[in-house]
Amino acid sequence: MVFRYLLVAIGVLCAATGSPAGGGVGSSNPIHNQCEYSSGDGICFGHELRRKKFLMADGFTNLNHGSFGTVPAPVADQQYSYFLEQEAYPDTWFRVNYFTYIDESRSALAKYVNASVEDLVLVENASSAMNSILRSIALSRGDKVMLLSTAYGMVTETLDWLVSTAGIELVIVNVEFPLVDEEQILGGVRAALTANPDIKVSIFSHISSMPSLIEPVKEMTALVRELSSSLVVVDGAHAPGQLDIDLNALQVDFYLGNCHKWLYAPKGTAFLWTTRRQQQSDESSQRSPEPTVISSSGKHDYIGRYAYTGTRDYTHFTTVPAALAFRDYLGGDAAIMGYCRRLAADAAEMLVSQWGTSMLVPLDMVSFLFSVILPSTDADAIAYVQSTMDSEYLIYFVYDKTVSAKTGETIFFTRLSAQVYLELSDFERFGALLPKLLLEYSAKHAHV
Ligand SMILES: Cc1ncc(COP(=O)(O)O)c(C=O)c1O
Repeated sequence: MVFRYLLVAIGVLCAATGSPAGGGVGSSNPIHNQCEYSSGDGICFGHELRRKKFLMADGFTNLNHGSFGTVPAPVADQQYSYFLEQEAYPDTWFRVNYFTYIDESRSALAKYVNASVEDLVLVENASSAMNSILRSIALSRGDKVMLLSTAYGMVTETLDWLVSTAGIELVIVNVEFPLVDEEQILGGVRAALTANPDIKVSIFSHISSMPSLIEPVKEMTALVRELSSSLVVVDGAHAPGQLDIDLNALQVDFYLGNCHKWLYAPKGTAFLWTTRRQQQSDESSQRSPEPTVISSSGKHDYIGRYAYTGTRDYTHFTTVPAALAFRDYLGGDAAIMGYCRRLAADAAEMLVSQWGTSMLVPLDMVSFLFSVILPSTDADAIAYVQSTMDSEYLIYFVYDKTVSAKTGETIFFTRLSAQVYLELSDFERFGALLPKLLLEYSAKHAHV
């Protein structure tokens, strides 16, 4: 087995960011009145909206919307009504109605991401779409695939499998934290492409997972087009609902996005968008991208291959229009994005000042997901704080670690999610509790 990795480190070491958030935080515009943002029928964003329109348990504070999303009650109701329709007349559902509904979902979604409906299919999740793409492209020994070190674990696992089974080589562009600006990333991508103009596939995240940042996908794609003939694949798992997406303008070859994270669709709803040129459906040629499951439907065209992948519950696929209707009910993307970005900025500013730490990524490179350095480097203490907050205070947050390019030391950070059902007071409670629990841990272990 050949495991060959080419690592291209971004040359620029991060300079210390003068302000905690690299300059972005200072421009926040605090929300003083929750009812500044409200639904069509006057429900104020924050706790009232959460109580009346979401299904989370009473008293639970979800600071990690990013991992799994959560579905609003009206969307869940719509899904359930499709479920009842499916169970009432299974054959009618599976042979006729479902196909009408999925086309309605595809059309609504295509409009939302500014794409042609013929290029967009629904898949269960980002992982499935990425596997379809990477396992369908004909790659052989020595072919190079470029990715950033911020790529999601599923991407690196799939590529590792291709390294061991097909003998591909990986060109990894290292992204260093704390990040100062997107030039750091562009410099690394430019260097990688200049050193490896024969790269076959380039994979970028529209918004990376941990730490979370908006990657300069348009600019990176322009570099790929200028310096190579590589295909461009964008993992937009976190983008729908957090960013304005214009697929016609992006000029990439493949784009995938989750609807179950930020768009308010039920879990198991995602999409794959493929340029016409890459949708090979000619019986004599390799079919690419092939769904992860080849079904009995007998349909071999791009849309048909993905519409049915065996018997299972497809009701989540039919609820995209309901999720988009819920967004409209909240005032559309302008209201949702306006609220969540302001809440993220307010919360980040409050936490860095309370903890005396800083952000890992400047605010102008994040949307609803933001990463703040924790005021501790003690892994056991942080694990204690996380599990205590979860079990005793019903607050859930995620954290991870990275090596600071500034100091060379390991730093721990939390990745937090702003969402329409949260208020600044949720982050204030979390911000005050965390140092208290760190002290509690120290006191418990002082004499051990
Ligand atoms: C950047 C990124 N890509 C892909 C995924 C995988 O998404 P899914 O589990 O829906 O397949 C995630 C999940 O969090 C992610 O953060």
